Amino acid sequence: MALNALGRHIALVGYMGAGKTAIAPRLAERLGRRLVEADRLLEGRVQLTIGEFFAKRGETEFRVAEAALIRETLALDEPAVIDLGGGAVKTPTARNALAARAFTVLLDVEADTAWERVRQSDRPLAQDEAAFRRIYEERLPLYRQVADATVRTGDVDGAVLAAAGVHHELGAIERLGELVPGDGPVALVADETVMGIYGPAAQTALGDRLRSVHELPPGEPAKQLHVVGRLWSELRVDRGGTVVALGGGAATDTAGFAAATYLRGVPWVAVPSTLVGQVDAGIGGKTAIDIPEGKNLVGAFHWPARVVVDEGLLETLPERETRQGRAELVKTELLAGRRLDVRSAAAYKAGLCLRDPHDHGPRRWLNLGHTFAHGLEAAADFDLPHGEAVALGLLAALRLSGHDTAPVVDALDPQPVRVDRERAWAALLRDKKRTGDDINLVLLGEDGPYVAARPPDQVRAALDSLIRD
Ligand SMILES: NC(=O)c1ccc[n+]([C@@H]2O[C@H](COP(=O)([O-])OP(=O)(O)OC[C@H]3O[C@@H](n4cnc5c(N)ncnc54)[C@H](O)[C@@H]3O)[C@@H](O)[C@H]2O)c1
Ligand SMILES: [Zn+2]
Repeated sequence: MALNALGRHIALVGYMGAGKTAIAPRLAERLGRRLVEADRLLEGRVQLTIGEFFAKRGETEFRVAEAALIRETLALDEPAVIDLGGGAVKTPTARNALAARAFTVLLDVEADTAWERVRQSDRPLAQDEAAFRRIYEERLPLYRQVADATVRTGDVDGAVLAAAGVHHELGAIERLGELVPGDGPVALVADETVMGIYGPAAQTALGDRLRSVHELPPGEPAKQLHVVGRLWSELRVDRGGTVVALGGGAATDTAGFAAATYLRGVPWVAVPSTLVGQVDAGIGGKTAIDIPEGKNLVGAFHWPARVVVDEGLLETLPERETRQGRAELVKTELLAGRRLDVRSAAAYKAGLCLRDPHDHGPRRWLNLGHTFAHGLEAAADFDLPHGEAVALGLLAALRLSGHDTAPVVDALDPQPVRVDRERAWAALLRDKKRTGDDINLVLLGEDGPYVAARPPDQVRAALDSLIRD
């Protein structure tokens, strides 16, 4: 079973009428991947429609040609989104190729719905209802056998989340034992506060697999070398074991980094318990700790084997922390150009990270507003909550983009802060990559985010507008 689609093709399988053809191009666009429509490709090659091919040469010959094409497509290096024909899974060689090279997503559809959708079509296997239903029953076990994930018809966010290994479910913590991949031992790591609230439920759910329990100091103080050092000494899992990190971004960053480095890397599962964690920090495999020279300066990319997003955990989150998350949520809404809930915001970030796991391209869009935020935070000696700094940073980024600032003002109402202007400016310059004198920033255009260089005086003016005397 593949855990995610990192470096793997995404193959969409499902019965006629499951909506593969509708979802495939949207998924390919979200992930910046090439779309391969197996049936169309085959029709182009044989210069016959699928219907004609069936009629002239029979299903057996069709399956042989189809399986060859699937193997060929799956052998391509660059991960694509592949819309497979409904019967492709009948051929064992096609199933083996899927298991080896693809993350296979089953689009689930009820037989009734599927029949309603295809009964008027000219598809060869949709001419007779009894036969259609019989084949549906025959295929279902094959689909289930090849599927790494199952998604409702039309659910693009669901497909993106599945491809990133993100599981979103209310009450998921009660099923944590099943959601941690494999059957090896588990080390549970959580900050003291979160362990106090959700530790018992998590431990019960992990059952016999639970090998050890580790507490971290709550919040940013967890992200220290000595805390990671203690974890390294205490962990008792081998490479067949899994570190489960339960808590906010500080806990998942710390435990994730420990998992990335212990035994040169053991699998880990993130269970983010803050809004920041569920829409941002828990997703995408960046882990890091702080050193005296700066925040997040030592870390690793280590994609979690699974991210479990249980919005029920947010019930106990203090309002102060919820506000932090709202700023990142508004940022994500600006990037996506639409309103988002926790699930769709998580899916947006997951999509960008899958597209660009190592942060060389579109993943950098997630830094919208953060250049300014980092400058303000440093000038405030990190006494300014990150969310407040981001809210202000978004304001500056929108102003520089010539974009309406109402979405940020209405949702977050950021107020200028009193910090030293020169210190904030110096910190901003230190933080940024430069093109000559100009400063590279994420801006927001008509068609979405882009990275561009802006002259220092413009950037300075935008920063100054966030500071009061
Ligand atoms: N890796 C990434 O991609 C990434 C992205 C964004 C932020 N981060 C990091 O995340 C950190 C911030 O994380 P955060 O905002 O999630 O806060 P946090 O982890 O610092 O937690 C904030 C506080 O909330 C408490 N808490 C957490 N969950 C709770 C719950 N469900 N109920 C009650 N209390 C709860 C914690 O005990 C803590 O006191 C920063 O260190 C930042 O660098 C990382
Ligand atoms: Zn942020």
